[in-house]
Amino acid sequence: MTIRRQTPQDSSAIEDLMAEAFGPSRLSRTVWHLRQGDAVPELCFVQEEEGVIIGSLRFWPILLGGKIALLLGPLAIARNYKGKGFGKALVAHAIACASQMSYHAILVSGEPDYYPQFGFMPASPSEFLWPGFIEEERLQILWLAEEATPLMPGVKAILPTGA
Ligand SMILES: CC(C)(COP(=O)(O)OP(=O)(O)OC[C@H]1O[C@@H](n2cnc3c(N)ncnc32)[C@H](O)[C@@H]1OP(=O)(O)O)[C@@H](O)C(=O)NCCC(=O)NCCS
Repeated sequence: MTIRRQTPQDSSAIEDLMAEAFGPSRLSRTVWHLRQGDAVPELCFVQEEEGVIIGSLRFWPILLGGKIALLLGPLAIARNYKGKGFGKALVAHAIACASQMSYHAILVSGEPDYYPQFGFMPASPSEFLWPGFIEEERLQILWLAEEATPLMPGVKAILPTGA
């Protein structure tokens, strides 16, 4: 299994993976409104098994309480490769890379039982303002910089960087 940076040639394989994992309604989910502009190129990864792309993970920059943070996802592993540790390896690798950069936090709207293994904790709806509908238990945060935790008092708006 190999994890490497995404290249332009990978786009159609990634789209196929996303369509299989999330279906045609994926682009109308609230989370996509936060993915304006480009993903962070250093944090766009694909995972290969015997030369075939079987996993994809990208991160987008967002504004969190007025500061740049990361939005994790979309993340998808091909149907036939699920449950074999590929997702875990991909997410762990990507977080290790992100933590070398200057971002102070990573947010995800995702499976409540999947992300705690990487250090994510619930992001309280009384503290974070998501731009649209979200099942509250899906919003989770991983702080990368200890000193950044008390970002600012009050509710932190989550916005696309282009807004
Ligand atoms: C969710 C997904 C990325 C997980 O990847 P995966 O390769 O199947 O998962 P892994 O084999 O790495 O699982 C690692 C651990 O997480 C657990 N896990 C896997 N999927 C889980 C889920 N949906 N919820 C909770 N735990 C999960 C596994 O049981 C495993 O636990 P263990 O280490 O104690 O054995 C993958 O199943 C997928 O692409 N699903 C469809 C798209 C999707 O839901 N993307 C994520 C949106 S939040």
